[in-house]
Amino acid sequence: MQNNVLILDFGSQYTQLIARRVRELNIFCEIKPYNKVPEDMSSYKAVILSGSPFSVRSEDAPHPDLSKIKGKIPLLGVCYGAQYLAHFNGGKVEPSNTREYGRARLTNIKSDEPFFYGIIGGSQVWMSHSDTIQELPENAVVLANTVDVKNAAYRIEGEDTYAIQFHPEVYHTSQGKIILQNFLVHIAGLEQTWTPDAFVETTVSELRKKVGSDKVILGLSGGVDSTVAAVLLHKAIGKNLHCIFVNNGLLRKNEFQEVLDQYEDMGLNVKGVDASARFLDALAGESDPEGKRKIIGKVFIDVFDDEAHLVKDAKWLAQGTIYPDVIESVSVTGGPSATIKSHHNVGGLPDFMKLKVVEPLKMLFKDEVRRVGASMKISGDRLGRHPFPGPGLAIRILGDITREKVAILQEVDAIFIDGLREWGLYDKVWQAGAMLLPVNSVGVMGDERTYEKCVALRAVESTDGMTADWVDLPYEFLQKTSNEIINKVPGVNRVVYDISSKPPATIEWE
Ligand code: XMP
Repeated sequence: MQNNVLILDFGSQYTQLIARRVRELNIFCEIKPYNKVPEDMSSYKAVILSGSPFSVRSEDAPHPDLSKIKGKIPLLGVCYGAQYLAHFNGGKVEPSNTREYGRARLTNIKSDEPFFYGIIGGSQVWMSHSDTIQELPENAVVLANTVDVKNAAYRIEGEDTYAIQFHPEVYHTSQGKIILQNFLVHIAGLEQTWTPDAFVETTVSELRKKVGSDKVILGLSGGVDSTVAAVLLHKAIGKNLHCIFVNNGLLRKNEFQEVLDQYEDMGLNVKGVDASARFLDALAGESDPEGKRKIIGKVFIDVFDDEAHLVKDAKWLAQGTIYPDVIESVSVTGGPSATIKSHHNVGGLPDFMKLKVVEPLKMLFKDEVRRVGASMKISGDRLGRHPFPGPGLAIRILGDITREKVAILQEVDAIFIDGLREWGLYDKVWQAGAMLLPVNSVGVMGDERTYEKCVALRAVESTDGMTADWVDLPYEFLQKTSNEIINKVPGVNRVVYDISSKPPATIEWE
């Protein structure tokens, strides 16, 4: 990749957002920890230094060697990055005595400079810092200021080095994307060619080169990532991709057959394995949530290993890993530490785990996976699917699991989810599902007294599942759904709606 941007991470909460913005400009970029500057910089046409919770004045402040970068490759320092470029080049950074957090407006903009092309006076920017640049390095030129920040933007004379005290990546900086584009396109000369179609084309040809005529095994889950990974590999190597889709007996009603049919319609070489009995037998009597997860994980590995053995001479295991899973993070508490991935015990691993690993999506964010999927004509239905946990309904049946309980919950869940679709609410909700509670309650039906199960419905809005809030579903919808569940699902006489946010609650009940 010769049209690449390097983002050096100093531990800011916004680093991934910088990468997202750069990619929205159809320019590829990578994030690396500040203490892992690549030896070979030849593929990078620009470098961005992120913000940081550190102060440049503190002793343990990140202090990488930029001698291969500064003055040689176009460089942009953001917030801490801007202070870093001042502090270590003869400027002066000091604690700020005015509040410099939140909205501010740019003034005295040098709009004849390529960096600020199209930026209007008074443009809103977002500040988030407690130090301020009091004095710039000797050869610096101020490009803009705000009421409180005299050196809000500057550049170094004779170099393509730029620095801004505000965050161009956050939504509140109204023209932030234009500033990034000015730097990357007008100053660094990057091309805006990194589109989903281009990604598919280059990835398919790279996969062909890498895998050749070897056989590859991939576990499909029905989710977006494994589906998009499978379709990409299928484009590259066709029938040499062997997909395995396991029914653990804990999927939604009819999900196994419907999804399997869809995969076959897409032309994938997929084998559906109904291992429901193996999972449900192994789970009998287990009511501890972590115990259930362990059992499901172990049975899955056994089933997958058995199936993988049936594919003779497979050389590769494909996985739908995405970028947020592989970005090495900078620790702000325990000093600069990158995540260490150790591979102990290789001898004790199941055979399929000894295969070479291929991860075609490992440079993509989730929304990019969806866009790549759409460019390969995967149905919107599949790409817009709500997240569903790996252990499935097992963690939505509180207490022990029986086949009868799974059947009840599948019916309840189907009424709820189908209803969301019919009412046009499905796409407004991030995740939804029903929980079968381990209590019976008294009810009346006709002249009879009943003593039956209670179910809880949950629908949340979220962006990444880390925090979530309950969705204010219309009362008429809840009323209709509750009636339908109680009338149609034997064994259930009470429906409640969960109105807890995360935190302090979680999305799942187990
Ligand atoms: P919680 O309940 O922790 O869930 O708020 C956050 C997100 O993670 C999903 N989740 C799981 N996914 N295996 C998974 O693959 C699990 O064991 C698991 N537990 C929770 C949950 O559905 C939600 O999207």
